[in-house]
Amino acid sequence: MESRYSPAKNVFIDSIDIEDYIELDSSIAAYDQLLHSIEKPLKMILVFGRPGTGKSILLNRLYQNHKRQKDLHYFETPTTNEKEFFQKLFKIITNENLPPNTQVNFSTLVDYCKTLRGKREIIILLDEAQMYSRDMMERIRLLSDTRVIKFVVSLHKTENEDLIAKEHFQSRIWEVIELKNGSRTDMKSYIHKKLLKKNFFEIANVIKSTHIKKIHKLTKGNYRETNKLLFTIFEIYEHYDKNDPFKINYDQFSIKIIEMAGIKLGYINV
Ligand SMILES: Nc1ncnc2c1ncn2[C@@H]1O[C@H](COP(=O)(O)OP(=O)(O)OP(=O)(O)O)[C@@H](O)[C@H]1O
Ligand SMILES: [Mg+2]
Repeated sequence: MESRYSPAKNVFIDSIDIEDYIELDSSIAAYDQLLHSIEKPLKMILVFGRPGTGKSILLNRLYQNHKRQKDLHYFETPTTNEKEFFQKLFKIITNENLPPNTQVNFSTLVDYCKTLRGKREIIILLDEAQMYSRDMMERIRLLSDTRVIKFVVSLHKTENEDLIAKEHFQSRIWEVIELKNGSRTDMKSYIHKKLLKKNFFEIANVIKSTHIKKIHKLTKGNYRETNKLLFTIFEIYEHYDKNDPFKINYDQFSIKIIEMAGIKLGYINV
């Protein structure tokens, strides 16, 4: 028989499925700010934050909610192939496919963009922009200078990259939206809402503030880390449920199992 914890575990598989989007204080604020920014006459908007803080899901939500009303396009993980990038851009700008074996001439593309001034307002959501080369970013900037294409650049911030990001974007980005790890309150709604959405009322009910406090301490409020931790917690529950059910109590969530998961993931060193 399948353990009741097996499907609960799967609630926390990392995904950016927009159906699973949850309104959190921090994400509502960032979303509203982003929505405001794209209405302003900006060339570039920077969405900035550590890995796992919800940048991709935020861009996806914006895209899904507004792609019908706006000239909005989402570019996910960049290919290392710049040719492909410009082909994709060419298609958006001209509504035509590039004939096979031809390459986009960059300055022609910029000139063409200029002819669209006042006629079109294209918004490109560039996810994972830390993967674009400096050269590419420079070209993207030149395109944004035409004022026909506005770029929302999502950049993942790591310890070393902070400086690069600042230096590269300082004078060019006019608005920065920073995504942060969630507060304890955010974490509580995140975990509860995720479980409730999939009808795990009983499990959600036994996860109390003390458990959230412990989870938040281990993951520092990072959503991806929280997914990993919760997945591992339910994996341990699943194991006991199948092999040693007397070791677990259905009516009470276990701090000890949270710690075991923390050890397994290396959040706690023993
Ligand atoms: N508001 C939210 N609603 C639902 N899930 C969320 C929310 N914010 C973050 N998450 C979840 O957290 C995980 C990480 O989010 P996401 O992939 O968007 O982070 P990221 O900032 O793009 O990370 P990276 O810099 O590594 O690309 C995903 O599984 C996502 O579903
Ligand atoms: Mg991402």
